[in-house]
Amino acid sequence: MKALTELAKRRGFFFQSSEAYGGVSGFYTYGPQGATLKEHVEDTWRERFSVAEGHMEVDAPTVMPEPVFEASGHLDGFDDMLVECAGCGASHRADHLIEGATDVEEAESLPTEEVAALIDAHDIECPSCGAPLADQPVEEFNLMFETNIGPGTSQTGYLRPETAQGIFVEFPRLKEYARGQLPFGVTQIGKSYRNEISPRNALVRTREFTQAELELFVDPEGEGPDVASVADVELTLYPAANQPDGDYVETTVEAAVDDGVVEPWVAYYLGVAAEWYAEIGVDFERFRFRQHQAGERAHYASDCWDAEADVSAPGADPEWIEIAGYAYRGDYDLSKHDEHSGESFTVFKQYDEPKTVERASVDPDMSYLGPEYGGNAGAIADELDALAKRDRAAFDGESVTVTVDGEEYEIPVEKTGYAVEEETEAGRHMMPHVVEPSIGIDRTVYTVLAHAYEEDEVDEGERTVLRLDPSVAPTGVAVFPLMDKDGMGERARELARTLRSEGYAVTYDDSGNIGRRYRRQDEVGTPFCVTVDYESVEEDPETVTLRERDSTEQVRVPTDDLASVLADLRAG
Ligand code: GAP
Repeated sequence: MKALTELAKRRGFFFQSSEAYGGVSGFYTYGPQGATLKEHVEDTWRERFSVAEGHMEVDAPTVMPEPVFEASGHLDGFDDMLVECAGCGASHRADHLIEGATDVEEAESLPTEEVAALIDAHDIECPSCGAPLADQPVEEFNLMFETNIGPGTSQTGYLRPETAQGIFVEFPRLKEYARGQLPFGVTQIGKSYRNEISPRNALVRTREFTQAELELFVDPEGEGPDVASVADVELTLYPAANQPDGDYVETTVEAAVDDGVVEPWVAYYLGVAAEWYAEIGVDFERFRFRQHQAGERAHYASDCWDAEADVSAPGADPEWIEIAGYAYRGDYDLSKHDEHSGESFTVFKQYDEPKTVERASVDPDMSYLGPEYGGNAGAIADELDALAKRDRAAFDGESVTVTVDGEEYEIPVEKTGYAVEEETEAGRHMMPHVVEPSIGIDRTVYTVLAHAYEEDEVDEGERTVLRLDPSVAPTGVAVFPLMDKDGMGERARELARTLRSEGYAVTYDDSGNIGRRYRRQDEVGTPFCVTVDYESVEEDPETVTLRERDSTEQVRVPTDDLASVLADLRAG
């Protein structure tokens, strides 16, 4: 939305960084208004997703060593499709070009050769210079930023592409803090980095961005969530089966769980999320939860619902962007780190009562198998033991067959020392599953701005207004003297100090006429303006003018009551 990006730059919400050196795409600086708005969005997220849920917050480094990403699958699989123009050298996302020029909806799930063939077949041209892209190779491009850790023959590291890995790798320690009790949740707000091929739409696709993630560790066989607190929260769902042209499903969290439409833990957090989005002023007429199609899911996810917002300009065609993903990651991450690190990423699940279990095994010493088994006796014993544990029926016959190094060995059962013994078990080690609400803070900030943006006409003339919810507006209240004379400036500054001490973020402004000052505050979304005028300094008891941003209505309020009147108005 061009008008929004211009307003953002003019009023200090966000702008391209390092502009003095020509700027570099995909990096944005939040100005004074934007930094505060972003901080407020983060604070409300922390309150709702971490504090209110009783989760633990951590703060992990953004650089992590290579083995972490070998294990997580990012080194191998975190790629986008790149096509480079032989004419001007510009790089483009090949799948985005296909989606823009054909009916194909999810081109990123196609193999590179097929995407290259589609580029040829549709005579797709370079968006930068217009040269044909036919016959250019389409390649997988890894999105991680690589770096060196330390001097000399240093260790390879990567800037994390998601904050999540900073939580997963610390699981062995975090589970101790949770005393091994599932479910428990760990949250983190921090920077993530992706070397995007084509950054675009201001904050929407950048190379450095902030994520707010919750990794909830659950027992897949344990009790599901108690959804009572969010049971009636309304959800607009767009299930995969209904896409691309089918209906949305209007439901509630409780009904979505009862009907089996959404996995219960994911549904619970869709409810929490819907409450949070409402709190920060997301417009639900332009919002939905869309389920991923099978080919669209990340390598780690077995199901995922994206929060999507339409951020188009007023009156323009809808422009849906993904602002968050609510994924069921299963045990993918913990089992990968368990396997690659040698540490235990399991938790010990104690049974209510100790259980008596039957355990099958074979004689571990197979040396009596004799020379005909060569040096393979040990490996055969291991295979037989594994088979005994997973399939006791295999030992019901006279012989049992195992394969070692591609060769089959048939061993008489009586030779294996096969036995079943009873043991008492207090519990077992199990790999928790992960439910992950993953919020892009920058896209959320952008959505909040896009949904608050309006151009309207008021008594004072045409104006641009950001109808930001008071919970996130950078400035809570602006205080003006009608003029900085006859004691009005002094009184207004004193009032600003008092309101600050009451916890309000206050802007003091005495420059320009009052109409222009109101307009400036409307543009940055300040919900209330207070004006000290002649009546204020002459009256007893003292009163001031209080103007509400959206209605532009003005009332006179005794100064002594101002803080409580503002508090009531903020609370709605
Ligand atoms: N840990 C899961 C994960 O990272 P994701 O869907 O890749 O999942 C989660 O990212 C959210 O992070 C997205 O919904 C989006 O809001 C934000 N995000 C991802 N890439 C981004 C980018 N290049 N620029 C801005 N935000 C981005």
